Amino acid sequence: MPGKAVKTVSEREGGTVAAGRESAVSIEDVAVRFRSRKRDVTALHDVSVDIAMGEFVAIVGPSGCGKSTLLKLVAGLLKPSSGAVRLRGERVAGPRHDIGYVFQRAALLEWRSARRNILLQAEMRKMPADKARARTAELMAMTGLTGFEDALPHELSGGMQQRVALCRALLHEPPVLLMDEPFGALDALTREQLNIEMNRIWRETGTTILLVTHSVAEAAYLANRVVVMSERPGTVAEVIDVDLPAERDYAATMARPEFARVTNRVRDLLGAGAAAD
Ligand SMILES: Nc1ncnc2c1ncn2[C@@H]1O[C@H](COP(=O)(O)OP(=O)(O)O)[C@@H](O)[C@H]1O
Ligand SMILES: [Mg+2]
Repeated sequence: MPGKAVKTVSEREGGTVAAGRESAVSIEDVAVRFRSRKRDVTALHDVSVDIAMGEFVAIVGPSGCGKSTLLKLVAGLLKPSSGAVRLRGERVAGPRHDIGYVFQRAALLEWRSARRNILLQAEMRKMPADKARARTAELMAMTGLTGFEDALPHELSGGMQQRVALCRALLHEPPVLLMDEPFGALDALTREQLNIEMNRIWRETGTTILLVTHSVAEAAYLANRVVVMSERPGTVAEVIDVDLPAERDYAATMARPEFARVTNRVRDLLGAGAAAD
């Protein structure tokens, strides 16, 4: 029917998503309270964020403001005390399989080779073996691990171990990738290399990425939006659009006025000291 626009999932459900694109993650008025016999902790309150398919969103904020809690909500590992979380329009009601998760520690099985650590994901999900092997080879090539298929974790540098963890998280081609301070334990040069690779992987795979980081530069270099959170009880202080092209040369990007604008704004919001690693 001419003139009749097809509505996205988010529009049908009344969501608001950047540029009218389909919603990948929608966090609606979420609060999380942890109760124990000794004390109650409000980890998050009044948190609303809408993330469209294909976005790269960085989340920064002081320690203990609820960044990891927020990712756990999206993964369905934790239930909000109030509010709702939707993944691709569907309410998250338990652990989700259509996500990938990367943590600060690679958490590889030390007796398994790099390739077999990646294939663990396929075994858990009962993926067809041929497809899993082909995808593993592709991912290892994309992350510069070709030639290290049979290496054991202790034979790999910290950066390479994190690349293996990243391949494992991407093996089942999840539409949404959650990364919780994935490069925090790496030295500065390795971290820079992995940042450059993440920009390329994001562009090549089209994966929606949520990255928690303490590095203001990493957030501004990688993300198209930066969510700045306030001290506990964590809430969204500001969402900053990063007006830079998707393809980002490392040094040239950092020299751009827009990069300085974003990092200065984030630092202003976090206050001196809070931005330090
Ligand atoms: N399972 C839990 N039980 C009780 N308190 C928790 C639990 N998980 C996190 N918290 C508390 O919630 C707050 C937010 O934690 P977290 O999301 O890990 O913060 P961040 O990742 O921003 O450092 C912290 O005060 C933390 O101690
Ligand atoms: Mg954390």
